[in-house]
Amino acid sequence: LRTRLLWLALPVVLAACGAPAPPVGEQPLDTAFRNEGLTRTETLGQRVFVSRCATCHGEKGRGDGQNAYNLDPPPPDFAQTLPALPEPERRLVVMEGTAALGRSAMCPPWGRSLEARETDAVLAYLEALARPMK
Ligand code: HEC
Repeated sequence: LRTRLLWLALPVVLAACGAPAPPVGEQPLDTAFRNEGLTRTETLGQRVFVSRCATCHGEKGRGDGQNAYNLDPPPPDFAQTLPALPEPERRLVVMEGTAALGRSAMCPPWGRSLEARETDAVLAYLEALARPMK
């Protein structure tokens, strides 16, 4: 009986080993950040970004969100533009929208809807997007 039980357990064990990790957003923060090569804060920022910003900017900030084609000017490819945008100006955009830089009002202000911790985290994620990613 013992061995029969072991055989019954085998497929379960195999399935558990082969199962792909759940999407980053569904993993506990403590394990998720290790999987993407991001810090813990950047991972929190990634979650904020995916829920609030990716609809226009795309998940990796490449300017390819599903709403991007609707916008004029379109959201830029962060990998190209963010290195030239200093942190204080990034923060200004996140808090008050691109209008605060004298540009279009296409990027909405988030100062009222994000907690300070979320703002800091999303800025950390922007920094991660601005550096070359694997
Ligand atoms: C409704 C679509 C939309 C959403 C949602 C949105 N953005 Fe934007 N964003 C844009 C557009 C369009 C631009 C370019 C506007 C311009 O240059 O006039 C932009 C520009 C920016 C820039 C300036 C980039 C650069 O290098 O010039 C930053 C930073 C930015 N967005 C961050 C964010 C963050 C962070 C969020 C989420 C908290 C967010 N955006 C949400 C549309 C959006």
